[in-house]
Amino acid sequence: MNRAVAIVLLGLVSPAAAQWDQTAEQAAEAAEHYEQYCALCHGEDREGHVNDHAPSLKSKSLMASGFPWAFMYATGYGRPGTPMAPFFEEVGGPLSRDEIWQLGVWLRKQVDVASVELPLEPVEGDVELGRSIYENRCAECHGATGEGGTGTALGNHGMLALTPDEFLKYAIVNGRDGTDMKPFGDILSENEINGVTAFIRSRASGWTLERPVYHQPPTAEDYILNPGGEAPDFDLKDGAYVMSADLDEALRKGRRMVLLDTRNLALWQMANIDGSVPLPYYYPDRNMDALVADLPDDGTMIVTYCECPRAAAESVNRRLAERGFENLAVLWEGIQGWIALGYPVVVGETESVEIAPLHMPDEES
Ligand code: HEC
Ligand code: HEC
Repeated sequence: MNRAVAIVLLGLVSPAAAQWDQTAEQAAEAAEHYEQYCALCHGEDREGHVNDHAPSLKSKSLMASGFPWAFMYATGYGRPGTPMAPFFEEVGGPLSRDEIWQLGVWLRKQVDVASVELPLEPVEGDVELGRSIYENRCAECHGATGEGGTGTALGNHGMLALTPDEFLKYAIVNGRDGTDMKPFGDILSENEINGVTAFIRSRASGWTLERPVYHQPPTAEDYILNPGGEAPDFDLKDGAYVMSADLDEALRKGRRMVLLDTRNLALWQMANIDGSVPLPYYYPDRNMDALVADLPDDGTMIVTYCECPRAAAESVNRRLAERGFENLAVLWEGIQGWIALGYPVVVGETESVEIAPLHMPDEES
């Protein structure tokens, strides 16, 4: 079923040459979007592995095999359960399909590589052979159960549902130039490569696309938690980081503070620490200025957190410090660490949505 989804959607259209073209203004806007939304993890120069091993967005291998569809799906729907959040507006993200399309065209232009047409047929292979190859040669980077490590999460159900086998196989054969993913085409036989591809595919299980049911973030009068409480007396690691255990204790003791969630808004909608105010790392300064005007300027402790596990929160704290805020801390473990340690979050309602076929920008209007 997953494979069917990928094939149906990816088989839709082949981009016409004109759609790769971009005016100078479109290119400039895409470059700005890259800087605002993506550079934090994928790197100023698209080199990848800056935060959380976000992959390179400049390898010829990815740009030849992954644009447009693998790129559009990964960016639009994210990789659920990883720091790669969904960016399509329709699932709570900040960008339109057309903006993401332009971003992809721009990224590909930076590399200037021809697209390869990948067959959509499944790759047949010996799954048991593939399993042993995976354990011996792949798990050290991709994780024993495909949970990811220095390499991406190959067991991610969202990823598996939206990428055809040949896209995975292409990465295995050719590697990803400029990264630790080396080409296995010279190391493994065709039979072994088909086996490991089939093994990765065999781990796909049902996945449905969920979108958060929108709920209104707190308004200014609710920014301060426990307004009548005492200030927390955190012993900050390196003067900057608060441990989950200490934050949890302070919240339970009713300490006065502000909690800021610096992730993509879609992730805040899905689950967040109770009472947190969304302030995504990509907020432009003008929005930030408006929000900052509503934050207490009396030295109230402000704790920020993100998923990655600290980069987005640190970038927001730098901007707050520039605006004169002093009592700032970043949650050390990030929200994934917080959850893994068993501390509570409020989970937003979600609803299943159809994975809508992607159209070329022209066809959308
Ligand atoms: C908070 C960090 C973070 C931000 C910000 C971020 N990404 Fe990612 N991205 C990741 C991570 C981590 C992965 C790998 C997830 C996995 O599969 O394990 C990823 C994966 C991807 C992939 C899949 C690449 C592949 O090798 O298959 C694409 C495409 C992508 N991101 C594009 C973007 C774009 C475009 C933006 C900006 C609009 C963006 N990302 C913003 C962290 C981030
Ligand atoms: C030394 C570490 C390392 C080893 C060993 C390794 N990989 Fe990777 N792999 C990576 C990294 C890092 C990436 C992401 C590269 C990038 O930035 O695009 C990756 C990317 C991939 C991708 C693309 C996934 C995506 O999200 O688009 C596939 C498929 C893959 N590896 C399969 C394998 C298989 C199969 C093996 C074993 C035969 C293997 N890798 C061994 C590090 C490794």
